[in-house]
Amino acid sequence: MLALIFVAGAAPPADPLGYTGGAGPLVLDGRVDGGPGWMAAADCGDCHGQALAEWTDSRHHRSWTNDLFQAGLIAEPQRFCVYCHAPAAVQADEVIPNLAAYAALSPRATGAVGARLAPEPLAEEGVNCAVCHLRDGAVLAARPLAPGRAAPHPIRVAPELGGAEGCRGCHEFAIPAATGGPSPFLMQSTFSEWRALSGPGDPSCVGCHMAPGHGHRMTGAHDVEKLRGALRVRRAGGALVLEAVDIGHALPTGDLFRALTVELRRGAGVPPDSAEDDGWEVIFVAGRSFELVETGGPRPEKRPLSDTRLWPGQPRSVALPVDQPEAWWRVRYMYGAPHDLARGLAPLGDWVITLASGQVGQETRK
Ligand code: HEC
Ligand code: HEC
Ligand code: HEC
Ligand code: HEC
Ligand code: HEC
Repeated sequence: MLALIFVAGAAPPADPLGYTGGAGPLVLDGRVDGGPGWMAAADCGDCHGQALAEWTDSRHHRSWTNDLFQAGLIAEPQRFCVYCHAPAAVQADEVIPNLAAYAALSPRATGAVGARLAPEPLAEEGVNCAVCHLRDGAVLAARPLAPGRAAPHPIRVAPELGGAEGCRGCHEFAIPAATGGPSPFLMQSTFSEWRALSGPGDPSCVGCHMAPGHGHRMTGAHDVEKLRGALRVRRAGGALVLEAVDIGHALPTGDLFRALTVELRRGAGVPPDSAEDDGWEVIFVAGRSFELVETGGPRPEKRPLSDTRLWPGQPRSVALPVDQPEAWWRVRYMYGAPHDLARGLAPLGDWVITLASGQVGQETRK
């Protein structure tokens, strides 16, 4: 059985690629004489067209501009968010002066009305080529160039880029403590989840997310077919059995508000895909929950309370009311929290999708 609440180690190691976990901007160039150079994706894309095309289609490209992040930022306009969603110092410099203008966009905002957003051309590229590849004037590559190949730029071989270590700095980080700095509790723990599940020979993050045909798209939960493929739903007697498959971490992983719900509508109601959306009762949640604890700091501190997510190899049964064969069930994936839904800052379809559904009296097709 896996440990259900992951905590940061006593002294987390310095990140080999310089990521800060939200503590500060990412410094791409530590040399006194250097500048970041080649900062925009198009600068690399002139020569690396395929990587550019794939990345352009990725969530990394949209990590600053997508509706869900923007809604989260408007609700909590913190530098902490900037240092990961538009992490390089040159990107952070563009958006930090805009944080007051973001705050003013909230429906609950008081004051600061009229602040204008200045343009953010580099931040709009989010996690771009330079963020992952450019350090101190050299381009990081997972392995040496093949014999006979040459590049018009310096290359530094950084094997960690091609495994899980190169993703860890952003895909695992602590909840900020009430007094500033990291708390011992993790906000995202995808790396630890992967490490707990993986043995020698198992694929790393890159092995699955950059597999041939996927490359720099690095798709995840926003690829709905992939998400459906990672969840097996079957019937066993009076229960619905959920299982995570072909996945290297918990389902869901990543953002703290992600959840899977099993919902039930009793009685001979209309099918789940009709416009009628009332009367559903949540009977199981696979997700994490948190509590706010007063610690004497300037604001309450978020701490993990429970973790009911799905793990590969550990099927989970959810009992259905077998005496109500007409009742409908559905399994939904929530990209955001109910309080975000209530804020109405992004369209409902961006927050929640139905992955599987059926009637209690019928066998499951998926
Ligand atoms: C003027 C053209 C040009 C520009 C601009 C350029 N590269 Fe390259 N890059 C090359 C060539 C040529 C190679 C050699 C490998 C090859 O033959 O494909 C290479 C090699 C690489 C490699 C190692 C490839 C491998 O096969 O392991 C990486 C990673 C890389 N570049 C990333 C970048 C990034 C990121 C940028 C922008 C910051 C960039 N390059 C800008 C031409 C360019
Ligand atoms: C150390 C890095 C880091 C910090 C700091 C951080 N995030 Fe994220 N965030 C991520 C990663 C990695 C993901 C992708 C995980 C996933 O897909 O679930 C993500 C996903 C999200 C998503 C879901 C986006 C989507 O496309 O569905 C939202 C919303 C979000 N973050 C908001 C925020 C806000 C608001 C803050 C500041 C309070 C913040 N993040 C701070 C790394 C970070
Ligand atoms: C989220 C981090 C990330 C971003 C963003 C990113 N790369 Fe990469 N890139 C990688 C990793 C990891 C590898 C190594 C994959 C492997 O081990 O095969 C890689 C490999 C490469 C290679 C070697 C050949 C290949 O395609 O596998 C080139 C060239 C390259 N990247 C260019 C780019 C360019 C150009 C951009 C922007 C358009 C970019 N990368 C954006 C992480 C990233
Ligand atoms: C500089 C920080 C950073 C690094 C390094 C990074 N990521 Fe991400 N990643 C993010 C952020 C931020 C998001 C959330 C984007 C959004 O808002 O939707 C994200 C989202 C994702 C997603 C979710 C895509 C989807 O469709 O839902 C996957 C998968 C992913 N990253 C894989 C990787 C892998 C694999 C690596 C290592 C090769 C990596 N990331 C390295 C910051 C990073
Ligand atoms: C065995 C294959 C496999 C491995 C290894 C793997 N993943 Fe995934 N990952 C998936 C699949 C399949 C999904 C889609 C289902 C989902 O969203 O959970 C996914 C989804 C994700 C998401 C999107 C979650 C969300 O809430 O949007 C992120 C982020 C992610 N992976 C990051 C990583 C990182 C970082 C690593 C390494 C530490 C990693 N993955 C290792 C298969 C894998």
